[in-house]
Amino acid sequence: MKVNDEYIVNIEKLSNLGTGIARIDSQVVFVENACPEDKLKIKITKVNKNFSNAKVIEIITPSPYRIKPFCPMQNICGSCQLQFIDYDYQLALKKQIVEDVMRTIGHIDTPVNNPVPSPEIKEFRHKIQCPVSQTKVSKKILAGYYKPQSHEIINIKYCPIQPEICDKIIDFIRQKAFEYKISGYNENKHSGELRHIVIRYSAYNGKCLVTLVVNSSKLFEKYKTFALSLFNKFENVSGVCINFNNKKTNVILGGKTECVCGEDFIEEKILDKIFKVGADTFFQINPKSAENIFKYVKDEISKSDNPIVLDAYAGIAAFGIVVSDVCKEVVSVEENENSIKKACEALKINNIQNVELHAQDTTKYLKSIKKKFDITILDPPRKGCTIECLDETIEHTKEKIIYVSCNPATLARDLKHLCEKGCTIESIQSFDMFCHTFHIENVVVISVKKQ
Ligand SMILES: C[S@@+](CC[C@H](N)C(=O)[O-])C[C@H]1O[C@@H](n2cnc3c(N)ncnc32)[C@H](O)[C@@H]1O
Repeated sequence: MKVNDEYIVNIEKLSNLGTGIARIDSQVVFVENACPEDKLKIKITKVNKNFSNAKVIEIITPSPYRIKPFCPMQNICGSCQLQFIDYDYQLALKKQIVEDVMRTIGHIDTPVNNPVPSPEIKEFRHKIQCPVSQTKVSKKILAGYYKPQSHEIINIKYCPIQPEICDKIIDFIRQKAFEYKISGYNENKHSGELRHIVIRYSAYNGKCLVTLVVNSSKLFEKYKTFALSLFNKFENVSGVCINFNNKKTNVILGGKTECVCGEDFIEEKILDKIFKVGADTFFQINPKSAENIFKYVKDEISKSDNPIVLDAYAGIAAFGIVVSDVCKEVVSVEENENSIKKACEALKINNIQNVELHAQDTTKYLKSIKKKFDITILDPPRKGCTIECLDETIEHTKEKIIYVSCNPATLARDLKHLCEKGCTIESIQSFDMFCHTFHIENVVVISVKKQ
């Protein structure tokens, strides 16, 4: 098999990275934009030792699950890889992805419950991070999303998965850039000014916090004037911040953020609790789907009698605060100090007395204490937990661990370790937070009682 060879294949299933899997003489081929039950003519784009990659050149017989995507840019933009697949079938495929990684990486055969669908499959994305560049000759600002597997920006004027006001804000910035002599960032040369537009939209009250990420702190005065024009234009923009990021990096936000107009947060509501979410604090991107997860975790904790709970990787202590009414005491641990400040404000707003906050690394915190918790909630970033953190968690947990994860592969790896240490998996529940992508959130309940 070599690059540019063409084959006719049947797509068997979806890989955990959202590509279709076909086999040619028992060699696995990952095919972009393919759906199980498609019969396709494909062209090989890359040959590796154990697998190859390919693209579709003709759909010979479409899968019965193919639909017309609601976004006209779907096949150009890299954001919604699966939007051409019927939503219910997307969920079935995600369930199969979770089962596959649990079996292959985790050696776990616990059944995966049917994913809870996202309450909304359009305009559900409430955190928008839009890269900015400019055209070479006319110097027009480009703002949108990247083409699949590239850093080439597609100038997207209408994105149906984000609230409409976000399109308007981004377009205002595009239109006014010339007047304010604003240049877009050039990633290769590390030149130009505006790198990203980050918008947080509140599902609770429709307000937006806009953050302009710029390449140098010397740009502050210039962008302050621009920020003010943006703030005055949109009634629903409740604050504009400037973030400085002069590093040659893919990380979007730099270390320093200044609020130049209005407030440096939006308010969000989860169940009956109000939170302040800042420019650089973690908050779930799909708040309505997140609410289902919070309710599920709270119901699980309610099964214990007035437990003492550890909320590790706490962000703004959203889990800790939401479950606090059914707990004797909660300890929330988070390493980002700005998130802990917002958590502290949320405690006051919601008049909560039984949540203790620690701005610290989870493992370091656990190593520094003797206290035991009835239940531990682990909600780490995509890379999952370290072995040290998992071992400390077992040591400090009496009853159960509730592991919330946005990455099935690292989740399976960590579950394997927990099981090897004597824990047992009670249930695996998927939630669709990231519609039209291969990503899926999971909540796993793990019993730590020794068998
Ligand atoms: C997936 S988010 C979860 C946030 C929160 N549980 C929520 O639902 O809003 C992971 C959080 O872990 C924090 N974090 C990452 N590494 C950490 C560590 N070693 N110790 C404590 N917090 C950490 C990140 O700053 C981030 O807020």
